[in-house]
Amino acid sequence: MTPFRVGLLGHGTVGAAFSELLEQRAGEVEGATGRRPEISGVLTRSRGDADEVIQGSELVVELIGGVEPARTYVLGAMRAGRHVVTANKALLSQHGEEIYETAREVGVQLRFEAAVGGVVPVIRVIHETLAAAHIDRVHGIVNGTTNYILSEMARTGASYDEALREAQALGFAEADPSDDVSGRDAAAKMAILARLAFGARVDLDDVSYEGIESLTQQDIGYAKELGLSLKLVGTAERVGGGLSVRVHPTFLFGAHPLSAIGGSFNAVTIESPAITEITLSGPGAGGSQTASAVLGDVVSAMIPPAALPPPPVDQPLVSDVESAFYLHLEVADRPGVLAQVAEILGLQGVSVKSVVQHGLGDDARLEMVVHRVLESKFLAAVELIGRLEFLRSPPRVIRVIEETF
Ligand SMILES: NC(=O)c1ccc[n+]([C@@H]2O[C@H](COP(=O)([O-])OP(=O)(O)OC[C@H]3O[C@@H](n4cnc5c(N)ncnc54)[C@H](OP(=O)(O)O)[C@@H]3O)[C@@H](O)[C@H]2O)c1
Repeated sequence: MTPFRVGLLGHGTVGAAFSELLEQRAGEVEGATGRRPEISGVLTRSRGDADEVIQGSELVVELIGGVEPARTYVLGAMRAGRHVVTANKALLSQHGEEIYETAREVGVQLRFEAAVGGVVPVIRVIHETLAAAHIDRVHGIVNGTTNYILSEMARTGASYDEALREAQALGFAEADPSDDVSGRDAAAKMAILARLAFGARVDLDDVSYEGIESLTQQDIGYAKELGLSLKLVGTAERVGGGLSVRVHPTFLFGAHPLSAIGGSFNAVTIESPAITEITLSGPGAGGSQTASAVLGDVVSAMIPPAALPPPPVDQPLVSDVESAFYLHLEVADRPGVLAQVAEILGLQGVSVKSVVQHGLGDDARLEMVVHRVLESKFLAAVELIGRLEFLRSPPRVIRVIEETF
């Protein structure tokens, strides 16, 4: 089988990471699709010829960004019968209809997962998984820069300017951050999501947006006092017989799925009567993360519609894994109980992170969380604890996920 030729337009942050990832993962892609992908040509401002790159490829990956010349190249590639993968939200939010229409007319694949939410597979879920689900509302934290700035303001008490400078120093914000902090970048992404969620034409010009530039520590302090978090949230929803798509700073109650999304992460919440609610979250940008979403699109475009999964490879299944645990014990309220429990846990190498005693007399309970430990060791300790005569009922155990990202 001949290699699958991928023409690459743009070799910057994402383009270079994509090119490297494609080389590293060519074997896996071949396993999944039957053909080994290779970069057949590269275009930058100083290297390559656009026509040659397009003609020499079967699929074109556009990672230049902006409207022109990306628009001309993408349309040209599709008209020449090439599948296209792009991460370009500016292009799709301003010329989406022209591009979708051309792909339909010519019958090529157009994939753009990385244009919204970086590696978070929100396009696929809205466009394919929930294609028939009648979505009512989409909320999104779709700009990692502003989420990082607001998270840092809340976490450290920094001013907007201080948090922005830190974001720039760490590479989370560009030297000119205006597209991000004004809400325009998030508005472009919400236009793309709204177009897919509601099947209606939505352009960037249709989205009202407000940025985070004027937010202060006072706003953040207020949010904290009320147990709320302050985020830049994009909303696309059905209102009466129409649609509303907008982006603005928003307080969220602690129980809202977007409330806990911190740092440069992105997250999108999709609401529909058919599914109640789905939240997807993950890194919203970064060269290697975005490149991974782009490669996923290339693989999707390479797989013929009826492809079956490749034969399975042998991988051992691990049953005894480490976890943190919550342990609930109903005990007789008398001296030495906690010491005996602690001794058994200690002998099995289980270390207690926190312990609280509730109730008195016949209602006494011990509740503890233990640090990560092999399940077999913890369950062996629980088995011994279960035999102690002062226990009023069998121990109850629940696993704890401690990870934060
Ligand atoms: N960076 C991220 O984390 C991220 C996340 C999600 C989506 N995206 C999207 O991914 C795309 C690429 O972003 P990026 O950050 O990789 O951009 P970038 O670092 O600025 O790279 C742009 C590349 O395009 C080339 N280029 C620019 N103008 C050109 C022209 N007129 N003709 C030919 N080549 C041209 C540049 O050439 P030179 O090398 O000669 O300068 C460079 O190789 C954008 O659509 C962006 O919105 C990026």
